[in-house]
Amino acid sequence: TISPMEQTSNSSFIKKLKSTGRSLVVFYGSQTGTAEEFAGRIAKEGARYKMKGMVADPEECEMADLVEMKEIQKSLAIFCIATYGEGDPTDNAMDFYEWLQTGDADLEGLNYAVFGLGNKTYEHYNEIAIYIDQRLEELGATRVHEIGLGDDDANIEDDFVTWKEKLWESVCSHYGIEETGEESNIRQYKLVDCSEVLPERIFTGEISRLKSYVNQRFPFDVKNPYIAKVVVNRELHKSGNRSCMHIEFDIDGSKMRYDTGDHVAVYPKNSSELVDKIGKLLNADLDAVFSLLNTDEESSKKHPFPCPCTYRTALTYYLDITSNPRTHIMKELMEYASDPKDQEKLKLMASSTPEGKKEFHEWILHDNRNIVNILEDLPSVKPDLDHLCELLPRLQCRYYSISSSPKVYPKSIHITAVVVEYTTPTGRVNKGVATNLLSQLKQTNDELPQPTIPIYIRRSQFRLPPKSQIPIIMIGPGTGLAPFRGFIQERDYARKEGREVGEMILYTGCRKKNEDFIYEDELQEYVTNGTLTKLHLAFSRDQPEKLYVTHLLEKNADELWNIIGVKNGHIYVCGDARSMAKDVHNIIVKVVMENGQMTNSQALNYVKKMEQQKRYSADVWS
Ligand code: FAD
Ligand code: 2AM
Repeated sequence: TISPMEQTSNSSFIKKLKSTGRSLVVFYGSQTGTAEEFAGRIAKEGARYKMKGMVADPEECEMADLVEMKEIQKSLAIFCIATYGEGDPTDNAMDFYEWLQTGDADLEGLNYAVFGLGNKTYEHYNEIAIYIDQRLEELGATRVHEIGLGDDDANIEDDFVTWKEKLWESVCSHYGIEETGEESNIRQYKLVDCSEVLPERIFTGEISRLKSYVNQRFPFDVKNPYIAKVVVNRELHKSGNRSCMHIEFDIDGSKMRYDTGDHVAVYPKNSSELVDKIGKLLNADLDAVFSLLNTDEESSKKHPFPCPCTYRTALTYYLDITSNPRTHIMKELMEYASDPKDQEKLKLMASSTPEGKKEFHEWILHDNRNIVNILEDLPSVKPDLDHLCELLPRLQCRYYSISSSPKVYPKSIHITAVVVEYTTPTGRVNKGVATNLLSQLKQTNDELPQPTIPIYIRRSQFRLPPKSQIPIIMIGPGTGLAPFRGFIQERDYARKEGREVGEMILYTGCRKKNEDFIYEDELQEYVTNGTLTKLHLAFSRDQPEKLYVTHLLEKNADELWNIIGVKNGHIYVCGDARSMAKDVHNIIVKVVMENGQMTNSQALNYVKKMEQQKRYSADVWS
């Protein structure tokens, strides 16, 4: 807990800027850590321009103090802001966003720039960053450089580096300053040897509270996950070489509750094979106990992950070792290369020249190298393991749409997940972290304890209509069927209880009927018993021409309009099929235009209203 004294010193970023001679503050709205990492990189680069910088979490700052930024000479506030889900701010930027919306502070004299982190697969692309950029200007602040929009569906690292280069050019001309060429390669964390620490003080994978996985205490949430037993784990595919798992987590006795449409988050761990490889490549003792301590004593973030722990624990539970590293890691690795060829390669990839970007794109992104592969393929690069641990991003939990209804299964949570496994251009086999771990969680022998995994429930906005009579259309190919299995269970239950239940129309599909058509028997049963009014199936690879759920929707324009336009029903879209959600959106607009006899802009408005009224919801991932 933070004492009131500390809280004031934390929250007054202005005081801290002044007392430490800094003029640059970089705020981040981050959920998974990328925006925070970008913020850190900008703050560090400030040194090159004699602008000493710091990063700040808006949740821990009194953001109204932005009006005082003008008191600091040549000061600059930068915002790295992510947009989530249906155009939502990240949790830590929520209050700041509300303050901007409702307040009318006079921000004259505040210099700022915004970089947004978004994903073009989603409709509300970078909405929060765009809003913040405009609103700051409305409140009188001066935009030093135009907003940058990063697209995580393409190459957000490239978007960021490109924007950052231009940002510094604008900063130089705005303040009349020049690059000093000084690099600040100071580390943010220092290594502390913890070999003497007692075993009970050492973290072994817990997310927050020490020993929380052995002494479980509710309530369970993101910081305090529940260790759930995997009680069912079965294959849903009928043939073929891919795998789709039906998994049931036991939540009996956890006091956790879920609603149909919620997500469950799973905390995965990295494969021991990869972790051991890092230990071997760096000739490091993975069982040594260490801690990384923030060199900025005033920072509220003491450690980059729970410390002290062993390197093995850090690499297994806390750090992401399977994604493609970003360019700043190339830069930091440079100094550890003993072979000039390796060093040149890293230097090139870290540079923002066209050749450098091309090399990074080809060697890291296209060839799909993770940190282990980089260390394998540049054998003279031997970073200190504690430095590497400081640089790597945090391992993230994975979300799954819950595929059961609590009405029918109050004591368990079902998920439906495809096992990720693919071969990269360098011939390596990459295995998805969470799905491959889940695939191993099977009880092979009655004598052995049931396998477990840390989970928590994340509330979603993906909800059945409040009244069971309202008709609905569900569109979910592949694993997009998951939440609809819960929807159908819920209404089947209501119908069997004698309640009046509205029409339920499902569009689903897969590649081949005899291979990957999941839950076929269950769906047929619901058609037979009348819960599912209609089942439209698209098997994309059973004929020469692709057939998608979207093709069927287009054909059934009248049925679609009857539900949404005539009967005021709801429409739901779910899945990971790349452009599916956008295609569906376009089809709906077209149907509303043609069947509802509206102009294009009227139809767009109509659909927008449907979204606001929660009559049109999407649960999509990429
Ligand atoms: P990771 O280790 O995270 O690897 C996946 C990554 O590998 C991809 O992001 C991509 O970068 C790369 N990759 C994958 N395939 C290839 C390829 N062929 N070529 C090159 N690169 C590739 N998933 C489900 O199965 N069912 C669900 O119900 C479900 N619901 C979700 C709901 C939400 C709200 C969200 C955000 C995601 C959902 N997901 C669902 C996706 C899920 O969270 C995971 O992303 C997925 O299971 C992969 O996790 P992993 O750890 O196994 O793979
Ligand atoms: P495909 O893989 O043969 O292209 C589940 O992933 C199903 O969704 C698969 O049959 C897949 O077909 C299909 N799919 C892929 N892209 C889609 C899109 N844009 N719209 C609808 N379905 C799509």
